[in-house]
Formats: sequence, C-alpha cells, structure tokens
Amino acid sequence: MCGITGYIGHKEAYPIIINGLKRLEYRGYDSAGIILNENGIFKLRKTKGKVSDLEVKCAKLNSKATVGMGHTRWATHGVPSDVNSHPHISNNGRIALIHNGIIENYGTLKIMLTSKGYVFKSETDTEVLVNLIQFMQETQKVDLFTAIRYALNEVIGAYAIAVMEVEQPEEIIVARLSSPLAIGIGENEYFIASDASPFVEFTKEAVYLEDGEMAAITLEGVDIHKIKDNAKVNPIIQELKLNLEEIEKGGYDHFMLKEIHEQPKSIMDTMRGRLLVEEGVIQMSGIWDHQEKFFNAERIIIISCGTSWHAALIGEYLIEDLARIPVEVEYASEFRYRNPIITDRDIVIAISQSGETADTLAALKLAKEKGAFIYGICNVVDSSIARLTDAGSYTHAGPEIGVASTKAFTAQLAVLSMIAIKLAKHRGTISKERFTSLITELETIPDKVEKVIRNTEEQVKEIALLYSRTNNFLYLGRGYNYPIALEGALKLKEISYIHAEGYPAAEMKHGPIALIDNNMPVVVIAPKTLHYDKIVSNIQEINSRKGKVIAIVTENDIQVRSMVSQAIEIPDVSECLTPILASVPLQLLAYYIAILRGANVDQPRNLAKSVTVE
Ligand code: F6R
Repeated sequence: MCGITGYIGHKEAYPIIINGLKRLEYRGYDSAGIILNENGIFKLRKTKGKVSDLEVKCAKLNSKATVGMGHTRWATHGVPSDVNSHPHISNNGRIALIHNGIIENYGTLKIMLTSKGYVFKSETDTEVLVNLIQFMQETQKVDLFTAIRYALNEVIGAYAIAVMEVEQPEEIIVARLSSPLAIGIGENEYFIASDASPFVEFTKEAVYLEDGEMAAITLEGVDIHKIKDNAKVNPIIQELKLNLEEIEKGGYDHFMLKEIHEQPKSIMDTMRGRLLVEEGVIQMSGIWDHQEKFFNAERIIIISCGTSWHAALIGEYLIEDLARIPVEVEYASEFRYRNPIITDRDIVIAISQSGETADTLAALKLAKEKGAFIYGICNVVDSSIARLTDAGSYTHAGPEIGVASTKAFTAQLAVLSMIAIKLAKHRGTISKERFTSLITELETIPDKVEKVIRNTEEQVKEIALLYSRTNNFLYLGRGYNYPIALEGALKLKEISYIHAEGYPAAEMKHGPIALIDNNMPVVVIAPKTLHYDKIVSNIQEINSRKGKVIAIVTENDIQVRSMVSQAIEIPDVSECLTPILASVPLQLLAYYIAILRGANVDQPRNLAKSVTVE
C-alpha cells in the first residue's frame, strides 16, 4: 500500500503534491510526508497522521520549488510515527526516497550497512534502501541512476520508489517491481504517482512503468531502462480515460455513499456493449477469443481476497449452477503457499478491484508458471493483474475511492453473471428460453438497484439508529446469498468496528446459535428463492431465542415480514441475480451505522484500499 506522487516542471510543486496525496490517501493514511528541492536544498516535512496534518506542518514552508515528491503511508515496518514516515534520507543527507511496497531482505541489508557504519533512525525497510543506494554510489563510484540500479538488484521484495538527489534538482528517478507507478506526461512537466488520479487535471497522457523498469525523469523527458541489465526501453504513452469528476465526492458526504449511489450506473456501464438483449447475445471478447478453452473447461479456479473473494464465491454458484463447470474458489494468500495442483487444462480467474493486490498477483503468477490459462476481472485499467493475464473482462465501475468496496463488488457480480450465462448458452446447459429470460432480467438490474436505493435508504437510516450501539451482529444467508451474508458482515466490521460474522444460515445450529439472545441482531437475507422455506425455519429458530431479525425480503413478502423486527424489501428477480440487489441495503446499513458511531467510513482504521503487501 502507500501512495507516492511527485512533480517536476515549472509550476510550484507543493500544491500539486499535496493535492495528489489527498487523492492517494485511499492507499494509506497513517502518516504523510513531502520533500521539495529548492535550488539544491532539501525541504522535508513529515508527520504521523493524515495529509491534512501534513498541511498543518507545512504551514510555514513557503516554498516556490518546482520539483518534489510526497508519500502517504500504510505502515508495514514500524508503527505510524513521524520518524517512520517517508521520505527517508540517506546518512549523507543527499538522497531522499519514498517507497510503496516491502523490502523483504531489509534485515540482512541493514546488518551489512550497520557493519559499514551506517546508522538508522527509523524502523523502516525504506531507510535501509536509501542507504543501500548511498553505499552503492560511494563504493562503486557511480551516478545516482546506476547506484539505484545496483541497489535494486540486491533487493528482494516489492517496490515502487521515487528518488531525488539534493545536487540534482532537475531529476527524479523512479523504479517499480510489483507495485504500480504511473508517469504523467505534461508540457515540459512530468508527474509521478501510484495511479493517475493526482495528475488527471494536468495531462491525459501517461506511461505506466512495467515490472523491473526504472526511469530518469528530467525536464528533457523520460528515459526508461531495465533494472536488471540497463537495457533501454521505449516508452509507450497511453491516453488516460479518467475524469476529474469521477474522483471527487460530487456533493456526497463520503465517497462510499457516492459509490453506493453510483451502482445503477456502474452496473449499466459494466454491461454496456456486452449485454445485447435485442440481438440475444452476450458479447465478451475475452471469453470469445478463447472460446475453446472456456466452452470445454474441465475446471475453473477463482482466486481473490476480501470482498472480491465474496464475489468469487457467487461466481462459483453462478458458473456451476448455470454452466455446469466445476469451480473452486480460493483465497489468493492460501492458494499461493499451499502447492496447489494446477495444469494447463485449468482456467484460473483472478478477481480484483485494484488489480494490484499482492497476494492475488502472486497467486496468478504461480498459476501462469504452472501453465494455466489466466483470466482477470479487474476494475483498474492497465493494473498489474490486468496486464499479467492472458485475457480478461474489466468491470467498468469507475474509480472506487472509499476503502470499503461497494460498486466494484456489484460490477464484479455483473461480469460474473454475464460470463456464467454466456458459458451456459454455449455449452447448452440452459435452454434458449432461459438464456433469453436471464439476459432480459439482467438488463433490468440497474433500474432495480436504483429502486432499492430509493425505497430503502430512509428505512435503513432508521434501522441504523436502533442498532448503532450494538457490539455484535450476525449475518445469515443460504445458497447464492450465503456470500452476501459474508459480505454484509465484512462491510459492517470494516467501517463501524462492530464485530460481525457471516454464516450459511443452516450452519447457525452448529455453533453460532449459542450467541443468540435479545441483544443479538441477526441480518437474514431471505428473498423468495429455492431455499425460502428453509430460511423461514431459520428465522423461527432465531425468534425462539429472542434474537432480533432484520430481514432482506422480496417485495410483498407478508410471511417473513410478520416474523421479523424489520423487513427491507428488494424487487423480485431470479435467484442467481438476488445477490446484486441484496448487497445494496447491507452496504447502506453498514454506512449509516458507521456514521452514527462517528467512524471515518472512507478511511477506516488500519485499512488501505490497495493491499500491495502480503
Ligand atoms: C473490503 C475490501 C477488501 C478488498 C480486498 C481485495 O471492502 O475492499 O476486502 O476487496 O482487499 O482487493 P482487490 O479487489 O483490489 O484485490
């Protein structure tokens, strides 16, 4: 995690960097720092806390510098503190470095450098790297670029770094391995950042550094080389699709609320050009171009983390139910370390909003090495995962900035639904009539999500008032909605810090039922589906133990309404599409409870949006 940004050009660097850091705060927000090079003198400010705290510290900075860089941190090595904040400076005071990632062999390197007389103020791996660069520069008698290259060839780990040298005010050197880095190309000015959001109002052109590349950025241009052997690389300039409005709050109090409300549009955007109901087709080039593999697949493995893992579980239900292909779902972090059996007959699908999640990326690399065909479902265009995969389908949800994933999740479900229905059609596992009815229904989902938001938001606010002081929550669901129980619980715990657990409803009697008393709210996802009668029985079991049930029900469901404390209605749809609708009131519930508890919903404690460390 961590966000890095920098500027070199003719404008004042400070405001550009501070604004850039604010946009990158979703990547980490426990400390922040900035360094400017003012005519050969470093001006450094850093602090524990948010970018707003850094601004306070910079109140008297008064700098006209036109080159500088900044960092917003999600602590890995060392607690959040002023001294552990980036930038870090080499012992000789000449080199400054900011870093996103982890240097795994920092311990060995630190011992070596300590034996040579280097001293360390912080607990960070980053301070080790900046001193390793100084060491290389001094012992090998090379320039900064070469010293960085030599140092990086000694390093094991992941990094996106930016380096400045005090005597070279017109140069920033950047490098990347497994952490993202974009270079914005302006007119006689250049920007660097973990993603394009810090410079989107200045330029629409960017170069994305590839793994194992480094670049010297000066007013003359961008000079890219391979870290390993210094081979020159020709930059590929890409046009940015990002708009400023997409990364601003647009009148909402929080990004999370904005993103919940954007779902009718984000789902529609995800289906646009793919779901062609009149023609009776689902057009997905990623699948079509590899149709032999998909239509004849013996097994699909889906890997992901967190909310994306919940989407993967629903993907399993969808693909097995409709297309009748066996699917396994794995946490990426477990998959990569358990010596999984993978062959070239397997399709491995990675689901990731950011496309940068370290565990998912590493698991995917493993699957690729073992010969599997790898497919990505990512939201961030040109992200590391998107670039690694053999093919894929983007979720066109637009930038998701709130740390808790909402619109990316429902967009993932939309993509998975299209994939499953398409595979089912071509494999002949559903009838033509069912195919037509499913795609017709899928097309109505954005309107139905709109309706859910419109009809339930006020009710959910009232429910939130009733339960905001509760310490525990249980979420139950069956079948397609079991993963929605997991997702509802995750949303609540991550932003409100209330302990919440999700369970398959039938598992309740194997343990969690012991928790139920009149203080325990139980959210039951109970639309009218195949399991309706079973879930009604589960609600009765909760009632018998005086638990308070908040149920997500199908419109006009009188039976469950009469049994529960609160019933939140969603429109009637086929079971396989209920997860998209049922997730929306649960997002709202988590949001409004967190607000009542005074939590920072967009930046919950200890979390970051893009988990680029293991
Ligand atoms: C929860 C959340 C996380 C992410 C997880 C994976 O709201 O956002 O659990 O889903 O960190 O991230 P991506 O999807 O970027 O790989």
